[in-house]
Amino acid sequence: MLNAKISGIASFVPEFKLTNDDLSKMVDTNDEWITTRVGIKERRILKEPEAGSSYMGIKAVAQLLEETGTKAEDVDLLLCATSNPDYRFPSTASVIIHGCELKNCYGYDIQAACAGFIVALQTANAYIKSGLYKKVIVVTAEKMSSMTDYQDRNTCPLFGDAAAAVLIEPTEENIGIIDGVYHVNGEGLPFLLMKAGGSAEPASHETVEARHHYVYQEGRNVYKHAVTDMVESSKDIMKRNNLTVNDIDWFVPHQANLRIIEAVGGRIGIPEDKVLVNIQHYGNTSAASIPLCLDEYKNKLKKGDKVVLTAFGAGFTWGAMYIVWGI
Ligand SMILES: CC(C)(COP(=O)(O)OP(=O)(O)OC[C@H]1O[C@@H](n2cnc3c(N)ncnc32)[C@H](O)[C@@H]1OP(=O)(O)O)[C@@H](O)C(=O)NCCC(=O)NCCS
Repeated sequence: MLNAKISGIASFVPEFKLTNDDLSKMVDTNDEWITTRVGIKERRILKEPEAGSSYMGIKAVAQLLEETGTKAEDVDLLLCATSNPDYRFPSTASVIIHGCELKNCYGYDIQAACAGFIVALQTANAYIKSGLYKKVIVVTAEKMSSMTDYQDRNTCPLFGDAAAAVLIEPTEENIGIIDGVYHVNGEGLPFLLMKAGGSAEPASHETVEARHHYVYQEGRNVYKHAVTDMVESSKDIMKRNNLTVNDIDWFVPHQANLRIIEAVGGRIGIPEDKVLVNIQHYGNTSAASIPLCLDEYKNKLKKGDKVVLTAFGAGFTWGAMYIVWGI
């Protein structure tokens, strides 16, 4: 039976660093509050004029092609997970496909908020296993600064910009994407959303004045669900695959808040040194956070390592995946 494995990974972050001290000059906050409540020290911000998420996605995909020695014309499918598309239409996937000259490639966007990477990976897995496509790129590109309100101290420390991409290919070895559990319940809508700009509340002077084109979040509620749901889905995937905490080499949770990461790892009982964390440097980069973290630690990961990923995002949408590292 064919398996789908991650055969390459790359990422891109903008140069500009927005520190906690910078934020304390913009809103009523300070480094101590942000560090203890969220664990973030700095985040990257894309400053290039008129550059959207695709700018970073193109950089990440170009790097991926170079590192894996993949010819642009050989890529069959590109899935772009983003909550910050360049445009409402066309898809950001189409902009990236054009920008990277993927001439024989089909593609589309996937909207699953911060769970976008694991959702897109599962879609790529299905295409590879079916035999339909042989070289699939999952790219996550999130210009979170485009929807962050830098007058709102409750949300502006949390987010950063980044892109990351993985190449997925078939293998007959018993490695790659082994299993995934996914949930969407729709109950999270009032607690985490961008209220305007969609068809429910199209853009108008009033929506701009009401600051409805930024992330709206009721943090405590989201926090509670994020912890419970990532713990439950991680336990579920471990049980289904007969994995104990000792069997797992690496645990990679969505990077939204260091306290959430520690609470999830602690409740499952995973030793801290197996939990991959890079939120302090980048903040919450939404769908990009898991592959950005995997890319940062890729020299530690060895072929055959057992890895559990878990993510939680707006919707609510959440789940966990079990993969055996294949690079
Ligand atoms: C957002 C979050 C960090 C807030 O932390 P919290 O401990 O829940 O803090 P609260 O929202 O209860 O606010 C506590 C106080 O700090 C204040 N505060 C909020 N942001 C602040 C900031 N940047 N600096 C200083 N004070 C701040 C609040 O105004 C509140 O003050 P009050 O008690 O006088 O009203 C936390 O709820 C969180 O991480 N939620 C989940 C976010 C998440 O994961 N989102 C993405 C999911 S994909």
